[in-house]
Amino acid sequence: MTAFDGMLSALEPIGRDPGTGGYRRFAWTREDATLREWFAGEAAARGLTVVEDRAGNQWAWDGDPDDRPGVVLGSHLDSVPDGGAFDGPLGVVSAFAALDALRARGHRPSRPIGIVSFGDEEGARFGVACAGSRIITGLLGPDRARALVDGDGVHLAEAYAAAGRDPEELGRDDETLRRIGTFVELHVEQGRALADLDRPVAVASAIRPHGRWRIDLPGEANHAGTTRLEDRHDAMMSAAGVVLAARASALRHAAVATCGKLRVEPNGVNAVPSHVTVWLDARATDADAVRAVVDDMTDIAANLGGTLTEESWSDATRFPHPERMAALLDDAPVLDTGAGHDAGILAAAGIPSAMLFVRNPTGVSHSPAEFAERDDCLAGVHALATVLEELTR
Ligand code: GLV
Ligand code: MN
Ligand code: MN
Repeated sequence: MTAFDGMLSALEPIGRDPGTGGYRRFAWTREDATLREWFAGEAAARGLTVVEDRAGNQWAWDGDPDDRPGVVLGSHLDSVPDGGAFDGPLGVVSAFAALDALRARGHRPSRPIGIVSFGDEEGARFGVACAGSRIITGLLGPDRARALVDGDGVHLAEAYAAAGRDPEELGRDDETLRRIGTFVELHVEQGRALADLDRPVAVASAIRPHGRWRIDLPGEANHAGTTRLEDRHDAMMSAAGVVLAARASALRHAAVATCGKLRVEPNGVNAVPSHVTVWLDARATDADAVRAVVDDMTDIAANLGGTLTEESWSDATRFPHPERMAALLDDAPVLDTGAGHDAGILAAAGIPSAMLFVRNPTGVSHSPAEFAERDDCLAGVHALATVLEELTR
């Protein structure tokens, strides 16, 4: 078994639901702590120095990044609810494996090399995607971050403290940002483009604009058996209208819109819902198209007596010179994506960033069906090592 296989199999049981095969790896939970221990162990085995930044992201350094900014590889280890094994972990495992490959070749890097595991990339627990990279770049302010609440009413500040960190430390981290000369994130592809092209690896050109919004819809609790239909003020009826309207609006504006999460109050079988919160995820090639969907939904929510609140927004990311990286990698295809990534957040903060995608034959992601063949993963490691060697020549 290679080190690559060993790393993937060590991660395999962490947070895995034996029933669905899906992963539940949420920020600042027991599973998260186990993943952090794994990361620190892999770093220690390679003689790397591990530090945490002001959002609890983990960095493993070979060389001193305070002497000279380094080339950083990595991704995240958390997951969406019932996510797959590759979204995130493939990038972190491939980063360690690429460093191993460079060392095996006897390459002497001209700059420090870092490996990062960003915290709470999916925002599955506290709602804001890429929370770790947003906090250190200042895109998510410390007060707002501390006040984020999970589904059980636990504030991020409490969860952070319970995990042994000081919530007062949360905030923009210029010292960490100065250390990153370049960031390269390898990620499993979240679509079928590479399968259709019959190629194992692609270079990212862009991330499409996307965001998350919360729609709060009021109603009035009442008895499910005794309240006449015409007397009800049922928040679930409003929610149903919102879900259908989001799909219709996305179709009209060439966007995609998803209502994947609801909170119902009082959430009883025999009570008319008094309040429903619907989360809207909307994305498109063009930011104006996303805004048009959000404008439609703002009007619809208001007509139902509700409100729409933005929880996060990511403008379009264009990665610089993807064709140069593609040329280095046997003319790898260049693809854009509708998925968000920490690389997009760092790029927005002015840090030169790039991404590689590894073929996913199912084309499915954010699901246990997400997959990558071993040979394709190894082609990804090889590509990442090639890029790393070039950047540290
Ligand atoms: C992250 O995977 C996202 O695009 O939501
Ligand atoms: Mn994801
Ligand atoms: Mn990811």
